[in-house]
Amino acid sequence: MPNQLLAGKKGIIFGALDDQSIAWKVAERCVEEGAQITLSNAPVALRFGKIQALGEKLNAPVIAADATSVEDIENLLSQSMEALGGKVDFILHSIGMSLNVRKKREYTDLKYEWMLKSLDISAISFHKILQTAMKMDAVNDWGSMLALTYIAAQRTFPDYNEMAEAKSLLESIARSFGYHYGAQKNVRVNTISQSPTFTTAGSGVKGFKEFFDYADKMSPLGNASAEACADYCVMMFSDLTKYVTMQNLFHDGGFSNMGMSREVLAPTEESE
Ligand SMILES: NC(=O)c1ccc[n+]([C@@H]2O[C@H](COP(=O)([O-])OP(=O)(O)OC[C@H]3O[C@@H](n4cnc5c(N)ncnc54)[C@H](O)[C@@H]3O)[C@@H](O)[C@H]2O)c1
Repeated sequence: MPNQLLAGKKGIIFGALDDQSIAWKVAERCVEEGAQITLSNAPVALRFGKIQALGEKLNAPVIAADATSVEDIENLLSQSMEALGGKVDFILHSIGMSLNVRKKREYTDLKYEWMLKSLDISAISFHKILQTAMKMDAVNDWGSMLALTYIAAQRTFPDYNEMAEAKSLLESIARSFGYHYGAQKNVRVNTISQSPTFTTAGSGVKGFKEFFDYADKMSPLGNASAEACADYCVMMFSDLTKYVTMQNLFHDGGFSNMGMSREVLAPTEESE
């Protein structure tokens, strides 16, 4: 149900790979709410993903950028401002990749070169986007910057591996940069901590299906879907959340405050 919450706003959405991607749903919802956007992803994702089809559907230019390259980010920001006719109001960082997970290295046997690369792609890239946007003065006053994260930053989930460190760093960057961007430009910076969601990145985690089911039973509202996450992102990009900044916002059906649920302890036939 569109309400034109983002009418007149311009934004950049990173990370739509296919129609399972959380960023895909966010892009669709933002346009539905009246925003004009550009889409970005790594050059390899532009070759093998389906982002071009989304760009056509949403009338959104697709601009390649490896989020670890400051030069690529500069180019993306200037091309986006040109295509959208001015500075942007919001940016979504929906980027995550772990080389050690992909290559099946256990947390106690990490290859450190890969770990550094994973931290760069999944967390430092957010700092690079924020710093470059600030230097280029590419974001309007009262803009909103968001990144997607996971509760493994606070609690231990053994098979989430080095991504736990990446998410801790990502959330810390949102807090630290949130001070500077807020004080200078009234721009807010937050992270949304999303429930397990079936996507390419999510399903890469070992035992994901079992884990998804467990989280669903632990959460009084059940796991939050990618579509519901898109609604939350729209709210965070809208003028209804102008004073929310430097926060890690749980969007998880209540999972983060649970210790044990009856559904996990003694499953009934219905919840099995
Ligand atoms: N799926 C889940 O269970 C879940 C839960 C909580 C948080 N998240 C987070 O949501 C975000 C989006 O993931 P998703 O689940 O939609 O999966 P996804 O695989 O659809 O998205 C990950 C994206 O990162 C992009 N990417 C990888 N390397 C890049 C680079 N160097 N430069 C630019 N882009 C690059 C990929 O191309 C892809 O589009 C990630 O940060 C992920 O950690 C996912």
